[in-house]
Formats: sequence, structure tokens, C-alpha cells
Amino acid sequence: MSASDCGTGGYRGFRTAVVPAAGLGTRFLPTTKTVPKELLPVLDTPAIEYVAAEAARAGADRLVLVVSPGKESVAAYFDSNPDLEAELRGQGRDALLAKVRRAPGLIRVEVAVQRKPLGLGHAVGCAEPLLAEDEDAVAVLLPDDFVLPTGVLGTMAAIRRRHGGSVLCAFDVPRERISAYGVFEVEDTDDPDVRRVRGMVEKPAPEAAPSTLAAAGRYLLDRAVFDALRRIVPGAGGELQLTDAVALLIDEDHPVHVVVHHGERHDLGTPAGLLRASVDFALADSDVGPELRRWLRDRVERETT
Ligand code: G1P
Repeated sequence: MSASDCGTGGYRGFRTAVVPAAGLGTRFLPTTKTVPKELLPVLDTPAIEYVAAEAARAGADRLVLVVSPGKESVAAYFDSNPDLEAELRGQGRDALLAKVRRAPGLIRVEVAVQRKPLGLGHAVGCAEPLLAEDEDAVAVLLPDDFVLPTGVLGTMAAIRRRHGGSVLCAFDVPRERISAYGVFEVEDTDDPDVRRVRGMVEKPAPEAAPSTLAAAGRYLLDRAVFDALRRIVPGAGGELQLTDAVALLIDEDHPVHVVVHHGERHDLGTPAGLLRASVDFALADSDVGPELRRWLRDRVERETT
């Protein structure tokens, strides 16, 4: 099905969501000696469950987790645990039982193994053999990026229906921090929150960045990206970059747009970012929020007096 004949019927834009989870998690050492970064909790739930829920809500029916050897436990998190469930049921702990059953009920999970850490582009390419012939687009969600409120993938799918090609998510970053990201060169469309992408560059120096619009870890990619991924060479950091495959598509006149995200974004790739996301969720939680808020106020006041 091409982008142009999919405006009606049950077309959801994509069925597979690829989630690269092969990194060593060095920023979280020593914990990541034994616990994969993706299983660290935001409050009480691993980030990977939120990502799976986001993909399922956007219409995906399958999550392809790209893991490195030894990180299979990330996928095991989505298996059900009948013994634990029976125990909780026997104890009448229904709320906990519901939490435990949540992840296995979300979405079908499959695993692709990335044997060598050759970069994000290479990791995404590892999912290609699992795609069905009729899948002409895939979503890619980076689990380090917590994009709130969720739902931007749905908007991106609507933009792909309108313009075809590939659609990414952008957020505005202060120029002094732009070199941590893939950065877009854009031009306006008739919608202020949608820009046509004319170029994309990975981790530019602040003075060389074509804009302050950065890639936010949500991609809806035409299947053509896999062909581009086979043609790129190592780029920033000596790695095969997804950004460079998107840049190649743009050079070859493949339409690429970004949806500019105005909500919150937490960077779960650093301990401070994960902590911030936990505090954010905890403050919104009716059980732990009020007490935490009091404690935080008190704690910060002590700091400043
Ligand atoms: C990756 C991408 C980058 C994107 C970023 C978002 O970089 O390569 O284009 O802006 O995620 O978090 P990484 O954080 O893996 O260095």
C-alpha cells in the first residue's frame, strides 16, 4: 500500500514499532552490570513498558526489541509470570496483580539481536528481516526519550497520510545543548507545527547547527530507510547513524517532515533525567504525590536558607 492510497479504511500507517535497546547503559554503571537500563523504573514501572504502551496506543501490533547479546531479559519483562500471578491472586492483591499483568497484555514482542555495537542506524537495520512484505513503514521509538503527553506518533501517522514519505518528531533545544542531537534543516508548511525537512545532521557543533530543532526519538520511517541504511558509512562517533540514512533519503527527494512537539520530554538516558521523570510521575500520583511535594519543598528550602 502506498502513502497515497491509504486515506480510508483501516490503515494505521504502521504495524511494527522498532525499539533499539542494545546499548551498554554506561551512564548507569554500576547498576547496568546486571540490570539493563531499559528496565530501570520511572517511579515503579520500567521505561520500556511506557514505550510499548505508547506504540500499542498508536496502532502498532508488534514491538521489535533490538537487543545486544545478554540483554534478552528486556524482552522477558513482557512474558507473563503465572506463579507470581497465582500468588498475588491468592493473597487478594488485585491492584498489584493488574500491574503485573499489564505489560504481557500490551503488544506482541519479538527480538532482533544486534551482535556488534555499530550504531543506532545499524540497530534499526537489524529489525528489517522481521518485517512482512506488505509493511511499507515502521515506527522507531528510542526508549531514552520520554515524550509527553504521548500521542505524537498518531499525529505523525496523520502527516504521513497527507504528505507520504517519512515523519519525525522535533523539539526545540537551546543552541548550547544542540550538539547532543540529530538536528533538522527545515522550511515552513501551511501548518506551523509541521515543517518540511531539507537536511538533517547528527550532533553538529552549536555554531554549525542548521536550526535548534532536534530529533526527539520518535520516527515514522518509510521502508526505503532500510535501503538507505545499507548505503551509509560510519558518521558521528564512528557509528552508523539513523540520521545519516534520513539525510540520504532527503538528498534523494524522499519527502521528510517533522512534527514539532510542544510538550514535555524527559531524557531517560542519564541518571538525572530518569530521576526527574520519576519525580514528575510521583508528583502526579495521588498516593505518593502529596507527601513527596511537602518533602521536596522542605528539602529545597533547607538548601536555600
Ligand atoms: C539519538 C539520535 C539523535 C537523537 C537522539 C534523541 O542520539 O542519534 O539523532 O536526537 O537520539 O535522544 P543518542 O542520544 O543515542 O546519542
